[in-house]
Amino acid sequence: MEIGIKSGSPEKQRSACVVVGIFDHRKPSLAAEIIDQSSGGYLADILRRGDMDGKPGSSLLLHNVPGVLCERVLLVGLGKEREFRDKQYRDAVRDAIRALADTGVSDATLYLAEIPVKKRELAWNVEQAVLVAEETLYRFEQMKSKPEEGRKSLRKLTLAVPRRGELAVGEAGAARGKAIAAGVKLAKDLGNLPGNVCTPTYLADQANILASQAGLAIQVLERTEIEALGMGSFLSVAKGSDEAPRFIILEYQGGPKGAKPVVLVGKGITFDSGGISIKPAAEMDEMKYDMCGAASVLGTLAAVAELKLPLNVTGLIPTCENMPSGRANKPGDVVTSMSGQTIEVLNTDAEGRLILCDALTYAERLDPACVVDIATLTGACVIALGHVATGLLANDDGLARELLHAGEEAFDRAWQLPLWDDYAEQLKSNFADMANIGGRPGGTITAAAFLGKFAKKYEWAHLDIAGTAWKSGKEKGGTGRPVPLLVHFLAKRAENG
Ligand code: BES
Ligand code: MN
Ligand code: ZN
Repeated sequence: MEIGIKSGSPEKQRSACVVVGIFDHRKPSLAAEIIDQSSGGYLADILRRGDMDGKPGSSLLLHNVPGVLCERVLLVGLGKEREFRDKQYRDAVRDAIRALADTGVSDATLYLAEIPVKKRELAWNVEQAVLVAEETLYRFEQMKSKPEEGRKSLRKLTLAVPRRGELAVGEAGAARGKAIAAGVKLAKDLGNLPGNVCTPTYLADQANILASQAGLAIQVLERTEIEALGMGSFLSVAKGSDEAPRFIILEYQGGPKGAKPVVLVGKGITFDSGGISIKPAAEMDEMKYDMCGAASVLGTLAAVAELKLPLNVTGLIPTCENMPSGRANKPGDVVTSMSGQTIEVLNTDAEGRLILCDALTYAERLDPACVVDIATLTGACVIALGHVATGLLANDDGLARELLHAGEEAFDRAWQLPLWDDYAEQLKSNFADMANIGGRPGGTITAAAFLGKFAKKYEWAHLDIAGTAWKSGKEKGGTGRPVPLLVHFLAKRAENG
């Protein structure tokens, strides 16, 4: 969709539809007030009659409003003005886009970004409007034999800013929103693809395409090279599957040549059956999303390159399938990781940490500024934080704070859990240096504690996106999270040198 920024009066717009907000108790927003004045009180009449009360989720489409150049005016309910915060703003934009898509107009001008949102600025409003609009219109139709019929598409969206002097701020917000939205779309598409299409080889192919489009350096390691590195833990998971594993290394160089890179590590299990510790059948299809960490690394790199952020970022993606077979890991097997530490595989379904630990060891040779891994790692994280917050654990509080703050800024929030040494006791094994599970209590934390044993040489944070990377049920689909969080995190790092 084409998205532009504009300033100017709502009654003078010539697009197919102008969108203005109405607060609860029929209180018009500034733009609605202007429409009302130019129409000689036409809007006030409608509000008085009670056809639109300003409640959240309500909308009303008007035709041929007197004194207004454009054919349609869409009123969107904003809820109570005092409670108009980031979530309410995003909901209002989503309602507006849905209503526009239903009417079938091809272009519209939105007077919503100019409405003050508590603690947020104009650039944020614009960025979020772009993100919410793209997210609302997103459809995954790659696997359908023909495109779904029905609604005509909204092709052009113009976001109004209050004054001409604010056009530049609006443009900057829109540019960041567009870059993040493109990264989010890439992550969603990869997540939504089925496991028989999105294999480790396919992920590597897509990484190659991204690298050539975005100007990234890329290396894709195959099984023999992964063996040569000594990644025995990663390979122990991969060997249960007929699909060949890959280890993908992507480098974005936006900073000086010698500057230490931020390293992003993404879990790339293209299907997680659980292996010999096989999962129950219900909802197992959703384990195609077990590569969403990897997808978020690709999406983030795409956005960072688009924004030309002045810093260095390296993406590491260990990718394979977790399948049961005659060659698969068995409970009780002991494997040797690249770090030399041995691991007793008590549950083959705790495979994410087994592939990530070797990637974390590999990261040491990049002399990283810091390392952030992103993984759909534990069902326990869904129990702890639901589908709202990503789990965050770190061996460095400064890095944790940066990521928490970036999540707030991006409205892609994370919540920190403790990573005290006490939890690592649960990983003790009688037969190897550690076990790969720590029992039911604190499952998200013991998983992170396991990874922490491989991340001792640098500042490291772990994002558990098991609850946030995709939605289940009727709206099943990838979310593209935490691409917005990561892009904000990197943008801030780039800003601060
Ligand atoms: N990919 C899963 C985690 C997961 C499960 C994410 C459900 C989202 C929804 C991971 O590989 C896994 O199976 N983890 C196990 C760990 C357990 C065996 C210690 C889990 O969470 O049950
Ligand atoms: Mn698993
Ligand atoms: Zn998994």
